[in-house]
Amino acid sequence: MSNTLKLHPAHTDLEAILVTETAIKRRIKRLGTQIAETYGDEEITVVSIINGAILFTADLLRFIPNPVRLDCIRISSYRNETKSIGKPQLLHSLTLDVTNRHVLLIDDILDTGKTLAMVTKTITKLKPASLKTCVLLDKKGRREVPFDAEFVGFQIPDKFVVGYGLDFAERYRNLPCIGVLKPELQNPPEWA
Ligand code: IMP
Ligand code: MG
Repeated sequence: MSNTLKLHPAHTDLEAILVTETAIKRRIKRLGTQIAETYGDEEITVVSIINGAILFTADLLRFIPNPVRLDCIRISSYRNETKSIGKPQLLHSLTLDVTNRHVLLIDDILDTGKTLAMVTKTITKLKPASLKTCVLLDKKGRREVPFDAEFVGFQIPDKFVVGYGLDFAERYRNLPCIGVLKPELQNPPEWA
């Protein structure tokens, strides 16, 4: 067997790597510890926003030792490939009850804040015991509605990023790192 590190073929579509696979792994482990310390022995009802948060949620949960219940919700795409163009809507709602539960909402990235503002408003109406939010990435400078997450993996600049769950036109979610897509690939007519 060769020892040569074989890069994921989609790496060549990246202009730069913003967060390496190693950095993601290390940060997720620390986030898990921080979350466990915050919740003590309490059970957590994790609500993950799919598809983007799938990889992050799966890896993070392995570092949360608390009893956990997992639910997934889907938000209608209100964006074109790279920009926010409308209002997010809940497409597939919760299946678990969250009333009187400690809810931890997980998303891949906090950008304009519209998605998490809408989802937290919806969940708050269901009267959870507590509601906190965890995002892997935060583009603070892009906020259109005020929103802060309690747990943040990395602050990143205002760049469109892909990988580790994040997509461009549904591609690149399987990249193990997070990178900036080459500008010339951000408008491929064949993907429209
Ligand atoms: P917000 O509602 O503007 O905060 O956007 C949140 C959603 O937009 C995220 O869950 C992502 O699906 C998507 N998004 C925002 N920025 C990026 C990016 O740089 N790359 C890929 N998806 C993004
Ligand atoms: Mg998303």
